[in-house]
Amino acid sequence: MSKLSEIKRAWWKEAVVYQIYPRSFQDSNGDGIGDIRGIIQRLDYIESLGIDVVWLNPIYCSPNDDNGYDISDYRNIMQEFGTMSDFDELLSGMHQRGIKVVMDLVVNHSSDEHKWFKQSRSSRDNPYRDYYHWWPAEKGEPPYRWSYFAKSGTAWKYEEQTNAYYLHYFSEKQPDLNWENPQLRAEIYDMMHFWFKKGIDGFRMDVITFISKHEGYPEFPEEIQGAKMIDWYAKGPRLHEFLHEMNREVLQHYDVMTVAEGPGTKTDNVLQLVDENRQELNMSYHFDHQSIGVGERFIINEDYQNLVKFKTILSEWDEALSKHGWNTIYLGNHDFPRMVTRWANDSPQWRTTASKMLTTFLLSMRGTPYYFMGDEIGMSNIKFDHIGDYQDLMTINWYNLTKEEGGNIKEFIDSHKLCARDNARTPFQWDKSKHAGFSQSAPWIKVNPNYVEVNVANQQDDPLSELNYFRQMIKLRKQYLTLIYGRYELLLPDHEKIYAYLRELDEEQLLVILNFSDETSSFQSDKINGLKQAEVLINNYKNYICDINEVVALQPYQSIILRLR
Ligand code: GLC
Ligand code: CA
Repeated sequence: MSKLSEIKRAWWKEAVVYQIYPRSFQDSNGDGIGDIRGIIQRLDYIESLGIDVVWLNPIYCSPNDDNGYDISDYRNIMQEFGTMSDFDELLSGMHQRGIKVVMDLVVNHSSDEHKWFKQSRSSRDNPYRDYYHWWPAEKGEPPYRWSYFAKSGTAWKYEEQTNAYYLHYFSEKQPDLNWENPQLRAEIYDMMHFWFKKGIDGFRMDVITFISKHEGYPEFPEEIQGAKMIDWYAKGPRLHEFLHEMNREVLQHYDVMTVAEGPGTKTDNVLQLVDENRQELNMSYHFDHQSIGVGERFIINEDYQNLVKFKTILSEWDEALSKHGWNTIYLGNHDFPRMVTRWANDSPQWRTTASKMLTTFLLSMRGTPYYFMGDEIGMSNIKFDHIGDYQDLMTINWYNLTKEEGGNIKEFIDSHKLCARDNARTPFQWDKSKHAGFSQSAPWIKVNPNYVEVNVANQQDDPLSELNYFRQMIKLRKQYLTLIYGRYELLLPDHEKIYAYLRELDEEQLLVILNFSDETSSFQSDKINGLKQAEVLINNYKNYICDINEVVALQPYQSIILRLR
């Protein structure tokens, strides 16, 4: 049993974070690209959701090789998105509505068009040379490093100008910054102060676990090849020293939240990042559940929706952070498919019900929920048939590599209908007008044709819509602190359709029952008493059916939260 009096409460533990991908939220000037003034236009909608924090994907100057994750100026706003005064207006508009703003911090790499890199690549004795990682070609070829986005597949790019290779874990246009250099670190801390002084409320730190590189770039062991290298990238020897320094130099001076994007982070090392006693970061999010049934280059296998694996992983993560640190919960973001497609069922028959079920899950787990824009209205994967429709460099590069190797193109296209990142990046669906109310002209990426039905206007005033269910569920989470802080206990771990768990705080006991399948099912557990008399706190069907033997009958994708005491 957990006791509220023994828990260290914090606003960021009690917050629901809503993620906005600015490029796809609302276009205000008809160029087909979402922008800051577009978000300002939609502030009332954002407020109406009841969320507490908005995380904005990068809005800094960028040549957009990777949609803003390649930054050429950390202190200014991307022209396509607007101006600094637009940003200031957005920030104050959010604050007036009691919403905090978290920005993306992308400091594992910059753009190759950043002035630091332009200097760095110009000569070996340039003062900025050591802002990046270079390998002089007279030493021969550098030890292999895998790259997420490289056209060639390798993370070292040769430059004739200085006869050397530079390191880029992501694209050729995203050279990795050299954190060994104290001057570089000081510049980054200074830039962080710049944004905190403006009043932002935190940072989501992009691939922050990769910032420390192994000295001398040694060969990795033979079994650590390809995407397996990610786990090693996250084990750089000075990672925690750097983050502790960042905390001391910057973070501890403000009341802000931090969350690591933590590729390579596992249940056995996450506490090194988020144990409050270590003074590094508040939270981290992992990829373990997203990796279920997804192989190299996002080719999927039969485990794709394996519920038992899903429950096991999420329960292990809860356990790992149950005494120290604090967990995060998410089912999708701009790097993953739409949650309803990935974890449930996006067919017209089940989309609404299944979306509500997943919302119930996200908002009833222990840990801060990160909710991706559009999931509240049940947006689903667009599932492009043609490679030409994709905008994401990752999909395009992997497609080309597969083709060059004579790989299976049909399998690639089919898998990417389920897994490609662009599925989450299609324009937000506001109404049934042309371009879904997102823009006056053709958007930078196609709108999902289902926008005619799936849109805010349709759902806004319908009490049974997924949108209003989301609002209701947020209220419930705020009303019952047990949903935030209560102890979590998994029931029926081997059940292949049902995910059920208890949440307990002080004298209160809540039971969450979720049917993750398109078939009817039933729930029964000898650990539970009083099911029949329990109070139903929320239900995505009209009826709650419990027979005299305390067996609960569940409809497809039904979700219920019960108050047992
Ligand atoms: C993170 C971002 C992703 C980006 C990558 C490189 O994973 O979420 O969108 O492509 O880092 O910055
Ligand atoms: Ca625009």
